[in-house]
Amino acid sequence: MIPDHAGQAATEAATPDSPLRFVQAFLREPFTVGACWPSSAALSRAVVDSCAFAPSSTVVELGPGTGSFTELLLERLDSRGQLLAFEISDTNIEVLRRRFPRCRTIHDSAEFLPRYLGHKRADCIVSGLAWGNMLPALQDRVFRAMLESLTPDGQFVAFAYVHARWFPTTLRFRKLMFRNFERVELTPIIWRNLPPAYVYRCW
Ligand SMILES: C[S@@+](CC[C@H](N)C(=O)[O-])C[C@H]1O[C@@H](n2cnc3c(N)ncnc32)[C@H](O)[C@@H]1O
Repeated sequence: MIPDHAGQAATEAATPDSPLRFVQAFLREPFTVGACWPSSAALSRAVVDSCAFAPSSTVVELGPGTGSFTELLLERLDSRGQLLAFEISDTNIEVLRRRFPRCRTIHDSAEFLPRYLGHKRADCIVSGLAWGNMLPALQDRVFRAMLESLTPDGQFVAFAYVHARWFPTTLRFRKLMFRNFERVELTPIIWRNLPPAYVYRCW
């Protein structure tokens, strides 16, 4: 249980777009947010450099937090391209909307992705979710929604924390990727992140 005064202190110290807003979201919903600090520049770069999409693509981001990947993803898209970002936290969505007016931000769970895409399919789906923290039923629903929403040659990119590598939920997520994609690649560990992480690239 997180004491109330910890959340209160973070709220008072947080300027609208500072990383403390992310800490505040974590203190409110630690299991959903799944990390106490936003991804570093090194991990964000590794994730976005793993994405192979054209500037005119439809890209979806799941669990953008306060936008560590969002900023770099938007830089890669031109006026024909579109970024849809699904974020469930009230605190984080508020920061995202202020920071990225060009992004279509959706305040809903990633499991409802097909509903928002309509007849469209995504060329690339980038996950910022902490899959290791998810219960199996939710993991399945989000994974199915992601698969349903990709074009046949679309790409899925996700990261995982090194310390959670052997969590049963992480192993389960890994199995889902190897079962459902033709090709799965892993990057080396990115040590310059709190906590260290690695990236999955799936086709
Ligand atoms: C580990 S944080 C990563 C945030 C950001 N991508 C980063 O790397 O800094 C996971 C984010 O996913 C969001 N999230 C968790 N479950 C979600 C769901 N079912 N649908 C959409 N967002 C979710 C959390 O609120 C949190 O902002």
